[in-house]
Amino acid sequence: MIDKPLSVCVGLKASPYEILIASGIIPHIGGIVKSLIRPCKCAIISDELVAPLYAKTLIESLEKEGYSPLLLTLPAGESTKSMAQASTLCDRLIESGLDRKSAIFALGGGVIGDLAGFVASIYFRGIPIIQIPTTVVAQVDSSIGGKTGVNSLLGKNLIGSFHQPKLVITDPSTLDTLPNYLFNEGLAEVIKHAVIADASMLDLLPPVKGSKDLCALITRNVAIKAAIVTQDEFETTGTRALLNFGHTIGHAVESVAGYGTFSHGESVAIGMTAALDLSVRLAALPEESFYRVLKTIHACGLPTSISADLPTESLLATLRRDKKFDQGAIRFVLTGELGSAFVSNEVTIDDVLGAIERLRK
Ligand code: NAD
Ligand code: GLY
Repeated sequence: MIDKPLSVCVGLKASPYEILIASGIIPHIGGIVKSLIRPCKCAIISDELVAPLYAKTLIESLEKEGYSPLLLTLPAGESTKSMAQASTLCDRLIESGLDRKSAIFALGGGVIGDLAGFVASIYFRGIPIIQIPTTVVAQVDSSIGGKTGVNSLLGKNLIGSFHQPKLVITDPSTLDTLPNYLFNEGLAEVIKHAVIADASMLDLLPPVKGSKDLCALITRNVAIKAAIVTQDEFETTGTRALLNFGHTIGHAVESVAGYGTFSHGESVAIGMTAALDLSVRLAALPEESFYRVLKTIHACGLPTSISADLPTESLLATLRRDKKFDQGAIRFVLTGELGSAFVSNEVTIDDVLGAIERLRK
């Protein structure tokens, strides 16, 4: 038997839903979803690394409750998040007879969650998606909030929709099989949550992989993301934009260094370092707070610097293309006190370039 799942609610008026968190919850998913979705033909979308680990348990649990699950296994990795895969998946669902009463289960990391969520949002004009996230990034961030999508050849996440899940079921024990570097990468989003909403969480980092405390830590992060999404579902008031802390410079570094040089989490760690540096200069963040977060970033095995030869011109060009950039200034998330953040419209491109220069080794 498992412990009673911890539960966090995303209290959206039109589509509220729960996030259930418990180690060892996957074998119980069939019984849990039955109260929300009547037994039907459904699809489990997963990838070639995750499916062999967890799909059989999920299939058995669903079949026991009368569901007929079809497992669709895709290649692992970011390139799977494409319009071509979305289109192929839709065809497979049609061929297999799934209809508007069917549901999709996304079993995997953020790539599978974003792609399966997107397919669920367009299939028969929208069917339910149940997210079962298996990476740190997916458990603390991407499975919550309904941002779904695929990449275009011209950029990441440019095609997508908002489609809130019917339910998120998070099993922290799935992180035991995650390679250490991917576990650490996901901690960048945890550090981000600590900086913008819950500074005392910094004292709990890095968590020990496989420890019992992980469940509580994930729940704390889920609660932060859920509260932000509840306040600003469509990112119109500025609250959800706080989740971009560290991401503006992070994206620029990621794309200029060449995808693959720094992982996304590493780039966000570098971007957060620059955002903290700017916060000291422009928002009176105490220097000791800057060093406190830097120490945590290092302790999580993440970088805080870039090489001397990363070309400034290319970084500048990338920042200018950022949709948050407008006439010499950029909408930028700063913190004046750890545990809180705000969007500033007064950060200039020169400020940003200065912060990038100070990142160089
Ligand atoms: P991912 O989905 O590519 O997973 C990383 C790797 O880990 C993959 O190779 C996968 O097969 C493997 N894996 C997953 N779970 C595993 C497990 N339990 N054991 C062993 N291996 C496992 O990457 P990710 O970091 O989870 O997600 C990144 C994606 O999420 C990006 O596409 C990003 O744009 C997206 N994202 C979306 C949102 C959102 O709000 N929708 C937020 C953040 C990130
Ligand atoms: N990951 C950022 C967001 O969900 O808004």
